[in-house]
Amino acid sequence: MTEPKRLHVITWGCQMNVYDSGRMADVLAPLGYAPAAEAAGADMVILNTCHIREKAVDKVFSELGRLRQLKDASDGRMILAVAGCVAQAEGAEIIARAPYVDIVLGPQTYHRLPEMVARASRAGNKVIETDFPPEDKFDHLPDSATPQGVTAFLTVQEGCDKFCSFCVVPYTRGAEQSRPAAAILREARHLVGQGAREITLLGQNVNAWHGDGTDGSTWGLGRLLHALANIPNLLRLRYATSHPRDMDDDLIAAHRDIPILMPFLHLPVQSGSDRILAAMNRKHTAVDYRRIVDRLREVRPDLALSSDFIVGHPGETQADFDATMTLVRDVGFAQAYSFKYSRRFGTPAAGAPDQVPEAEKDRRLQMLQALLREQQSRFAAGCVGLTLPVLFTGPGRHPGQISGRSPFLQPVHLSGHSDLIGNESLARIVAAHPNSLAGTLVQERLIA
Ligand code: SAH
Ligand code: SF4
Ligand code: F3S
Repeated sequence: MTEPKRLHVITWGCQMNVYDSGRMADVLAPLGYAPAAEAAGADMVILNTCHIREKAVDKVFSELGRLRQLKDASDGRMILAVAGCVAQAEGAEIIARAPYVDIVLGPQTYHRLPEMVARASRAGNKVIETDFPPEDKFDHLPDSATPQGVTAFLTVQEGCDKFCSFCVVPYTRGAEQSRPAAAILREARHLVGQGAREITLLGQNVNAWHGDGTDGSTWGLGRLLHALANIPNLLRLRYATSHPRDMDDDLIAAHRDIPILMPFLHLPVQSGSDRILAAMNRKHTAVDYRRIVDRLREVRPDLALSSDFIVGHPGETQADFDATMTLVRDVGFAQAYSFKYSRRFGTPAAGAPDQVPEAEKDRRLQMLQALLREQQSRFAAGCVGLTLPVLFTGPGRHPGQISGRSPFLQPVHLSGHSDLIGNESLARIVAAHPNSLAGTLVQERLIA
């Protein structure tokens, strides 16, 4: 028997980091590590980091300063690891600046964590693993030990070959790689066996997925979604994040043909100006984007859209920004994320001469966010009076309440018994709040 130990994981960044943190806990479970809610008193702490915007590195060192005190309080017994995209980008520099860190590991090495812990446990040893190893980490990761819950993430694709002018991801996550369909189907069945009813397929460019099918041919994401849709008791499928360039005919048709594929799509556009889209190396125009949205809405009229926007990319003029505002008004988004352009060392745009002043970026961001907020409220208000399927994910805030998710990823609160958790039922939406909906049950249980 291995001695019980306590593992605390701190997760920053995207959904893939959330998934990765779970997988790191899975790989450490056989060594006796059980999840701990707090860093204080834990035997091991992993800080899973994100490098996407500026101050990422400062934020890591300031958190490490805090963790150092906890490590000192444990008489140095606590193993401190830094994982994720800052670990990949900074590597040995982290241990140079914070010598109390024991392990620095990049996203492609998580399966080697048990061996790294063994090495680091020998006093004084420091471990730095930021290569892109030849073996596939997914072949070496165990099945998830801890259930993710009613809604689960499943990474199907990792890395990026797109090299947008502003973005660090191709450098931190490496080249695009797709997992084989058989491994994905196996993991999906395992998650459903553990109680998952909604699965979100993850990838930095999830719709660039092209993997070995179960019939010996190469499949695209549309085909994979069809195979996943046949899993009994799986009620909902989603995928994120997709790139407009990879929305192929099969995937668009999947939105028509697969009822459990939810009518909500996160499809980042970044800008509405062709000049800026070209400077960003996005490899599509604003019209291409509008055309994809039209085609999706033709096959799935209730489809709601979400997107990412960057304001103030080098060279962005007022006219370029106006084109973004026009695109937002024309397309209409149910939800969106918007950011000021952030200069990332080593990316092509960082060296561009025509950087936009900070105050101008602030002004544009405020205008864009006001418009996006208005669209989000209008979309939510439009749900009031509708009867929508709600997947119940957990207890509500008050006794007798239960919470769930609409098809459009909005949280829904209503009165109901907690034994409904894991079921999908119809609810009438009675009110829209800024970040959630209120509903009443109209039909108990769509499935047993
Ligand atoms: N793979 C996804 C997004 C990855 S990063 C895609 O291609 O769409 C998530 C979002 O962060 C991006 O869509 C972009 O809007 C934003 N982002 C990335 N780098 C940024 C930077 N340097 N400055 C500001 N926002 C950035
Ligand atoms: Fe970054 Fe562009 Fe790749 Fe998305 S497609 S991860 S924004 S380089
Ligand atoms: Fe951040 Fe890396 Fe995800 S930079 S957004 S954690 S891929």
